[in-house]
Amino acid sequence: NSYLREILKESSQDVSGTLAGYIPRLRDADENLQALALATTDAQACSVGDDEHLFTIQSISKPFVYALALDDVGLERVREMVGMEPSGEAFNELSLEGGTGRPLNPMINAGAIATHQLLDHTRHDSHSGGRASDSRTSQVRSRTARILEGMAGFAGRTLEVDWDAAEEEFATTYRNMAIAHMLKSHGSLDIEPDEAVRGYIDSCSVLVTVRDLALMAATLANSGVNPETGQQVVSAESARTTLGVMATCGMYDASGRWLTQIGIPAKSGISGGIIGVLPGQVGIASFAPRLDEEGSSVQGVSMFQHLSNELSLHVL
Ligand code: DON
Repeated sequence: NSYLREILKESSQDVSGTLAGYIPRLRDADENLQALALATTDAQACSVGDDEHLFTIQSISKPFVYALALDDVGLERVREMVGMEPSGEAFNELSLEGGTGRPLNPMINAGAIATHQLLDHTRHDSHSGGRASDSRTSQVRSRTARILEGMAGFAGRTLEVDWDAAEEEFATTYRNMAIAHMLKSHGSLDIEPDEAVRGYIDSCSVLVTVRDLALMAATLANSGVNPETGQQVVSAESARTTLGVMATCGMYDASGRWLTQIGIPAKSGISGGIIGVLPGQVGIASFAPRLDEEGSSVQGVSMFQHLSNELSLHVL
């Protein structure tokens, strides 16, 4: 722990970067929060800093929802709707594959929206996927319930959606709506665009701590088995496919640089979280809200760089 504390301290020197400004929930975040957590595949865990602070998971939901979709409908069906090649573009570009109309990968918004439609909503109680009086359709509620159930498996505890943050974002998410309409026009969306976006935003609005994220990452590291609860949350194959896509596409247009310099399959989110997964070993999660130009946490990148260098965690 004293080593992790040292890393927090060193990373906190860099106060560059800015908060995401597109919804009040993110704009108003305390920019001095900072946390780091590790969870090993043999169920050891440690964390430092603001490790109980709850924040919306945002894009870090993407690998987990992808893993759940792989489990629900299988790789072949998933690949019909979304590819697995890096886009080299920002997360909110359309980035469709030439010829097929499929989004290039599930780690960008277009790919996450296309992945969302694949979740098996038929077995899930729509009651837990919304509030008593909101405008979500029962299919949206059931898919959100599937996400909550699946993410709870990864995290080893019940998780909740920040419904107000989801509402706030849905009201102004013109760009994601445009992406969903483009997908629909290309035949890459079998459900209504607003339903897909609504569910996608619900998945981004799940509240987590760095400790949750570290255990979720450790579950991917542990072939889909939660190291603490022993639950097989997704198959080993789904976990491995997800890690492959994280390694190549997880850090958006900085993915190549990240893999060469830090060398840990990872995923960042716009609320300031980053997860990293070392297969068979450990899940890592950092949180610090100021972002670089690609939308990844400045201090989080620095924490990962320290861990990678000093503990020789680079997988290559
Ligand atoms: O779609 C959006 O704009 C957000 N809800 C999530 C994007 C995100 O986290 C991108 N990450 N850096």
